[in-house]
Amino acid sequence: MKPKLALLTGAGMSAESGFSTFRDKGGLWETHPVEQVATPEGWRADPELVNNFYNGLRRQLVDAAPNAGHRLLAEMERDYEMTIITQNVDDLHERAGSTHVIHLHGELMKACSSTDPADPRHIVTLPLDHLDIRPGERAGDGSLLRPFIVWFGEPVPLIGTAAEVVSAADALIVIGTSLAVYPAAGLIHAARPDVPIFLIDPNEVGTPRDRHVHVIRDVASRGVATLIEALRQQPSLHSS
Ligand code: APR
Repeated sequence: MKPKLALLTGAGMSAESGFSTFRDKGGLWETHPVEQVATPEGWRADPELVNNFYNGLRRQLVDAAPNAGHRLLAEMERDYEMTIITQNVDDLHERAGSTHVIHLHGELMKACSSTDPADPRHIVTLPLDHLDIRPGERAGDGSLLRPFIVWFGEPVPLIGTAAEVVSAADALIVIGTSLAVYPAAGLIHAARPDVPIFLIDPNEVGTPRDRHVHVIRDVASRGVATLIEALRQQPSLHSS
């Protein structure tokens, strides 16, 4: 049996693909106020402004490509049973070839009902020839079509599934997240006490005091290469 790895990725994972992170200097929340573009209140105040923000990100995404970090994680499926829990709304893990990806905070390429964003009957993937959500465009239930993004103050429907994945894992790997946003940041506590935790980030990230975390202080692409070597040194992570 292949060892099970749970990965928690954040904006830093996609930084080398040209995406700004949120909280670094010059990050997205510095130029676009969170309250305006990432809350239900912001949506109600100005849906067109919110749609335009995500339309812009979506256009950037179709022109972007997975980086070496995404590709190495996809290749690791040869040796490990991998589940990637990502806070990212991009589809770069999938485009790199990863097959088990849980999007905690939604997906940029999708749109949904603004009455019930989680209603699967009204979640649609935007085709390449219709990338923008246009003013007044409606979902299947007649409500305004909105980006399929989990905004601040909204429930995170997949958090339970993600916690189960982490608690079943033989190792937890955290890449490119400031661990500032809950409930995603709390997933680290779902790891069993005996499993190793690795963290890849070029900057210092606060981690729980009661857990030993192997820190790889590097960007995602080089960091994942280092991680692969480090995992090979872990006797608990060899196939049985
Ligand atoms: N490789 C790896 N990590 C990087 C890189 C890189 N090339 N560049 C920056 N980082 C790190 C930063 O040091 C920081 O710790 O990525 C992290 C990015 O943190 P945030 O900007 O806070 O992004 P994230 O943790 O993903 O945010 C969580 O907050 O705003 C919401 O919904 C949004 O999903 C997002 C959530």
